[in-house]
Amino acid sequence: MNDARALRESWQRDGFVVRPGFRPPAQLAELRERAAAIVEAFDPGAHKTVFATHDQARRSTDAAFLASAGGVHCFFEEEALDAAGQLVVPKARAINKIGHALHDLDPVFDRFSHGPDWAALAAALGLARPLVMQSMLIFKQPGIGGEVRWHQDATFLHTEPVSVVGFWIALEDATRDNGCLWVQPGGHRGPLRERFRLQAAGLDAATRLDRIDSTAWPALENAQPLEVEAGTLVAFHGLLPHYSAANRSSASRLAYTLHAVDAASAWSADNWLQRPAAMPPRGFDGRPA
Ligand code: FE2
Repeated sequence: MNDARALRESWQRDGFVVRPGFRPPAQLAELRERAAAIVEAFDPGAHKTVFATHDQARRSTDAAFLASAGGVHCFFEEEALDAAGQLVVPKARAINKIGHALHDLDPVFDRFSHGPDWAALAAALGLARPLVMQSMLIFKQPGIGGEVRWHQDATFLHTEPVSVVGFWIALEDATRDNGCLWVQPGGHRGPLRERFRLQAAGLDAATRLDRIDSTAWPALENAQPLEVEAGTLVAFHGLLPHYSAANRSSASRLAYTLHAVDAASAWSADNWLQRPAAMPPRGFDGRPA
């Protein structure tokens, strides 16, 4: 009980908690191997337009992105492709992430993503009826793994009221050199700064990013790097500003993330992520709401 109380206190104060050893090395290895197999089976030929910018390619990029709400798709690192859309590194080193329904569609990820330890943690953090909306395997590839700029996850996974919680597990050691998370302790008490919204059909792009509050992003001296060992879980509030630097080291920095919202909140109709009706989101116990 004391542990639960301490967890809640640091959650309310800081907007994040760090749980070393949340999952054992064997489970991390199983997830890394499964991710490698998904990438190996992925045919990049059909998807090399993903980061091109002309309109037709942009539309197909949008379509693949939106469809991934109910699928398992591999997305490329921008620096993995040359101007002609050809891979400049081996495919296994070219993928930015796999998303966004691994936890529902892949048996290995499904097993990893559900269970009593998840349910207990979510309850301790105040999610009365958690629904796991998305999953991502983030590679942060050596040398080319790009920066993820300051943001708040409620920008992308919005509910009324805000309820999204991010769960991030290091599948490899995360350091300042290979692009660990940085957070602004207490920053979850600030406003939501941006909304990422679906646009009406027929426009150039399917989505757009709107600035809704002018509060500045944190200065680096107010941020805390979360250098953690493989197996550590970091949970963070949907309003907590966080970012990760590019990975310019020679080691990858794999992480797996889940995002859950409270079933009592209203999922925003203009969120990019709209689950297919045939795939209702499930709780950490594996059951639909
Ligand atoms: Fe994030």
